[in-house]
Amino acid sequence: MSSADCIPVITVDGPSGSGKGTVALAVAQALGWNFLDSGALYRVVGLLSLRNPGVPPAQLADAIDLHFDKAADGTPRVWLGSEDVSLSIRSEAVSQAASRVAADPAVRAALVKAQRDFRQAPGLVADGRDMGTVIFSDAGLKIFLTASVEERARRRHKQLIEKGQSANLDDLLRDIGDRDRRDRERSAAPLRAAEDALVIDSTAVDVDSVVQQILSQRALVASG
Ligand code: DC
Repeated sequence: MSSADCIPVITVDGPSGSGKGTVALAVAQALGWNFLDSGALYRVVGLLSLRNPGVPPAQLADAIDLHFDKAADGTPRVWLGSEDVSLSIRSEAVSQAASRVAADPAVRAALVKAQRDFRQAPGLVADGRDMGTVIFSDAGLKIFLTASVEERARRRHKQLIEKGQSANLDDLLRDIGDRDRRDRERSAAPLRAAEDALVIDSTAVDVDSVVQQILSQRALVASG
C-alpha cells in the first residue's frame, strides 16, 4: 500500500449527459479536493487519433502530454502541450472518436497511471466510467449517476444551443444511444455501477440536490 492509497477518493461514474461532470466538480469544490475529468484524457486521445489516423491510439495515449488548469472564472481547462484543447475536445466528432479509442484495452492500460497520479492530498473526486470499478476500486464513496436517454439528449441540445452551435435533438438522441451501447458493451472496463456504488437517478432532480445528497453520504462515510 502506497501513501497515496490513504488519500480519500469519491468516484462519480455514469453515462454521458447524466450530469456527473457538473456534479463531480461541484463536490470537489465544496470539499476543496482535487478533480479528475477522466473523460478528457480519452477525448484528447480521440482528438489525436483524428489528427494522426495512421498511428495506433495506444501509442498516442502513451506519449500524451496533458495537463489541466482553471480559467480566470474557475472553469477547468485542458491543455495538450501548449495548445488549449478545452473546446475542441467537446465536438461531436471527438466525442465519437473518444468512445472508439476508449474501447481499446491498450489505450485504457496506457492511461491508468496518469489517472491514479491525480490522487493527491487532501482528496480526489474522480469523474468517469470506470473510476469506481477499476481505477479507484478502493474509493470510500462511489456514486453511479444516471438519467434517461431523452433527458440527457435534451440537456446536451440545450448546452449546444447556448454555446451558439447548431444541434438536432434526434441526431443527439441517436448519437448518445450509440455511445452508451459502445460504452456498456465493450469488453474492456465496460460502463457499469460498482457493486458498492450508490445509484442516483438525476432525470428529475437538479444538480444542487444531487450534490447535497453526495455530500451527506460523504459525511456518513467520514464519520462511519
Ligand atoms: O465523460 P466523457 O463524455 O467526457 O467521456 C468521453 C468518452 O470516454 C466516452 O465515450 C466514455 C469514455 N470514457 C471511458 O471509457 N472511461 C472513462 N473513465 C471516462 C471516459
